[in-house]
Amino acid sequence: MSGDLKWNKIFGAGLATVFTILVVNEVSGLVFHTSKPEKMGYFIDVPEEEAGAGASVELPPDWGTVLPIADLAAGERAYARCVACHTINAGGADGIGPNLYGIVGGGVGNNAGFDYSPALREHAGSAPVWTYDELDLFITAPNRHIRGTRMSFAGIRNTEERVNLIAYLRQQGSGGYPIPAPDPARQPQPEGEAEPDPAVAPGSDVDQTASEGIAETAPEQATAPAQPTQ
Ligand code: HEC
Repeated sequence: MSGDLKWNKIFGAGLATVFTILVVNEVSGLVFHTSKPEKMGYFIDVPEEEAGAGASVELPPDWGTVLPIADLAAGERAYARCVACHTINAGGADGIGPNLYGIVGGGVGNNAGFDYSPALREHAGSAPVWTYDELDLFITAPNRHIRGTRMSFAGIRNTEERVNLIAYLRQQGSGGYPIPAPDPARQPQPEGEAEPDPAVAPGSDVDQTASEGIAETAPEQATAPAQPTQ
């Protein structure tokens, strides 16, 4: 019997050792384990082109929705970043940059007497008008949108700030440039609660028809029988 006990002790001690090794192994694994991130490095820039559009590409702002509710006072504050080089009053002098009165919906490189860069002149050939989208892209990153522009300004990456700024720019001599109807294809992600308030929005009649349009077409699309292909 005593022999059995002795072997039990030896066997038990062995088991305990194995167990301890396993536990230490496991715990150190937990403590020192580092998982590699799926992608190394930093994501620095927004995609150059929206061609092919993936989910990662941010939609351009839906101007018909965001402009009527834009914060003009915040836009004026954002414009403080432009005053070193621009004036915006009617007939204001050109500075380092051209006068910006009526720039929204105005011609690209259209300020007679201002010496624009060849890059901006060339850009005007393919995009002659400062549409909301064009302004937005340019202000986001001037030298990315018009490679070689003389406007040495880093850009404003904050979309809300740009929207407010563009609303402010529009107020300075571009009030006649229409705000488009809300575009269902450009609805912003539901991140904020800030819904456009029809009571505040000057283009609220447009809002109504547009949203009715969506409501009518959506069920049709869902139930429409699949078209036979060929
Ligand atoms: C450091 C000076 C500087 C700052 C700051 C600056 N700009 Fe400019 N801007 C320029 C110059 C220079 C040009 C002419 C660019 C060219 O010819 O390539 C220009 C051109 C423009 C144009 C094109 C005008 C046209 O007639 O086609 C717009 C629009 C514009 N700037 C908007 C802005 C806004 C909005 C801000 C502030 C967020 C701003 N800029 C800040 C220097 C500046």
